[in-house]
Amino acid sequence: MQYRMLGKTGIKVSEIGYGAWGIGGAMWQGAKDDESIQALHKAIDLGLNLIDTALVYGDGHSENLIGKVIKQRSERLYITSKIPPKNGKWPAQSGSKLRDVFPYEHIIKCTETSLKNLGIDTIDVQQFHVWDDAWAVDSEWQDAIAKLKEQGKIRYFGISINDHQPNNALKVAATGLIDSFQVIYNIFDQTPENNLFPLCLQNGIGIIVRVPLDEGGLTGKITPETMFPEGDFRNLYFRGDRKQQVAERAEALKKLLGKEAASLPELALRFCLHHPAVSTVIPGMRSVSNVKANCLLSDGRTLSAALIAELRSHAWNRNFYQA
Ligand SMILES: NC(=O)c1ccc[n+]([C@@H]2O[C@H](COP(=O)([O-])OP(=O)(O)OC[C@H]3O[C@@H](n4cnc5c(N)ncnc54)[C@H](OP(=O)(O)O)[C@@H]3O)[C@@H](O)[C@H]2O)c1
Repeated sequence: MQYRMLGKTGIKVSEIGYGAWGIGGAMWQGAKDDESIQALHKAIDLGLNLIDTALVYGDGHSENLIGKVIKQRSERLYITSKIPPKNGKWPAQSGSKLRDVFPYEHIIKCTETSLKNLGIDTIDVQQFHVWDDAWAVDSEWQDAIAKLKEQGKIRYFGISINDHQPNNALKVAATGLIDSFQVIYNIFDQTPENNLFPLCLQNGIGIIVRVPLDEGGLTGKITPETMFPEGDFRNLYFRGDRKQQVAERAEALKKLLGKEAASLPELALRFCLHHPAVSTVIPGMRSVSNVKANCLLSDGRTLSAALIAELRSHAWNRNFYQA
């Protein structure tokens, strides 16, 4: 496993981090706790040191599982969690008031609940789970974050930017109060490279890449016949003819497999890691076999400029999180 700096925090994080949404169950059906715990242990055995979760992932279940695992480990592990919007609206609606989404008391209370779920005293990076850049200079969230830092309940602060809106955080990036951003960046959505990444490099803000495999679309495993369990959010994400669309895109990408990347997940993760602004990539992985495959590809090798150039034409502008 290779490590990179998380912006200017001084923390060195593993290139592959652990996306812990799926192990929370609920929106991702089919997770088995025993297997999730084994997968987390395997990831740590392989040098992974950053685990990304959120209070809402299985209503605290993801945090509980992580808490159980980290209690048994002696390695220095970095936990990133998230504060849900008080009004329950994903993504943040333009024009909504910060007071309705992240009031001071809500920020404090959610962080304290996450600490309890995780069984720890300090969250390394606490993040807002949604964002509207109109709130950038609002002192209410700034005061709450300063308080949490002063009390030692969080070490650093970041924002998980709304789906496919990398430009909706450029103002807050300039406040100097942001240690890291979590953003969708993958072969299909390469847009963070335009404005967000250069600004983060310039300001020493870390980048945590989420959804590197397009919720499975970039694994090459989704076909028109793929079925997801009842209640699983992927029934919405891949609704209508989207499985067919994704399968066609994946087939086109498979033509690029070879010496540089043997499988589609490998190509997708190596693509994310090629950019110098990226600190860590956090695929969701509930099985030991996916953990092994993903962790082992962090080996210091980067994709060639020629292959990256080829991947430019596979960018795909769409938002499957919306109808
Ligand atoms: N708004 C937000 O802040 C937000 C939103 C979404 C995600 N996130 C964070 O980002 C993380 C990653 O996103 P995600 O989990 O939604 O999607 P993702 O990482 O793009 O895709 C996860 C899917 O890929 C599969 N997979 C992983 N490695 C594989 C491999 N080597 N071969 C084949 N399949 C593989 C997983 O299978 P298994 O699960 O069966 O192993 C799962 O079905 C989340 O877990 C969460 O921590 C944050």
